[in-house]
Amino acid sequence: MPVITLTINDELVSARSGQSLLEAIRDHGIDLPTLCHLDGLSARGGCRLCLVEVAGSPRLLPACTTEAVEGMVVTTHNERIDRYRRMILELTFAERNHTCAVCVSNGHCELQALAAELGMDRVRYDYLNPDLGLDTSHRLFGVDHNRCLLCLRCVRVCDEVEGAHTWDVAGRGIASRVITDLNRPWGQSESCTECGKCVEVCPTGALFDKGASVGEMEKESRFLRRILDGREKRQWRR
Ligand code: SF4
Ligand code: SF4
Ligand code: FES
Repeated sequence: MPVITLTINDELVSARSGQSLLEAIRDHGIDLPTLCHLDGLSARGGCRLCLVEVAGSPRLLPACTTEAVEGMVVTTHNERIDRYRRMILELTFAERNHTCAVCVSNGHCELQALAAELGMDRVRYDYLNPDLGLDTSHRLFGVDHNRCLLCLRCVRVCDEVEGAHTWDVAGRGIASRVITDLNRPWGQSESCTECGKCVEVCPTGALFDKGASVGEMEKESRFLRRILDGREKRQWRR
C-alpha cells in the first residue's frame, strides 16, 4: 500500500494511503476523543468530537470520516478545538436526560468519562428534558432513550457484524429515536438474535442488561475487534 506523508501537530509523519485521519493520528500515539466511532464499524461522523483543524479548510473536519492525504497539515488539539469539543458535550448532555447518579452506567460510561477528561464542568445550555421512555419488553435487555446519544453504534454493529439489522432510526433531527423492527417493541422483534452486541458497544446506559442496577452496567466493546480479527484469520475453520 502506498505511503503518504503529512504533518500532525508540527511533526512530519507517514500514513498508509486510504487511511482515515483518525487512524493516522492514533497510529502516532495521539489521543483523540471519539464517541460514535468504534474500531471495526463503518465511520459515521455523527458525534463531531474528533474534529481537527486542517490547514486550508475554513471548517473543523471530523477525523473519522476524512481521508488522510499527502501534504495535509493537521492540528488535533488547541484552545479552539477543545472549546468546540466541550460545547458538543454540553449540547449532548442538554439534549436528553442524563442523571448519572441513578444511571446503570454510572462510573462506566464513555460520555461521562469524556466529560471529565475534557474538563466539562457545567452545561451552559437549557436542558430540553424531553419526555422519553424505556422499552423493557425484551427478555434480556432494555433500552432507555433518555441516555441515547444517537451514535448509532447499535444500528451498525447489528447490521454490519451480526447481520440481523434489528435496529434502525426513526424521525429526524432532535426527534430521532433508535427503533427495533420498524418500531415494534424490542421484545416482539423477530430479527433480534439476542447476541447482545448492541448492548456491549453502546457507550452509555441507553442499552443495558436487564437486572443491572445503578453503576452495575459495564460494557466490553473490545470483543468486536476479537470477532473481526477472528473472521479475518478464518479462525473458525478446522
Ligand atoms: S449515560 Fe452516562 S452520562 Fe448519561 S446518565 Fe448515564 S452515566 Fe450519566
Ligand atoms: S442506544 Fe446506545 S449505541 Fe444505540 S444509538 Fe443510542 S447511545 Fe448509541
Ligand atoms: S468519532 Fe468522528 S464524528 Fe464521532
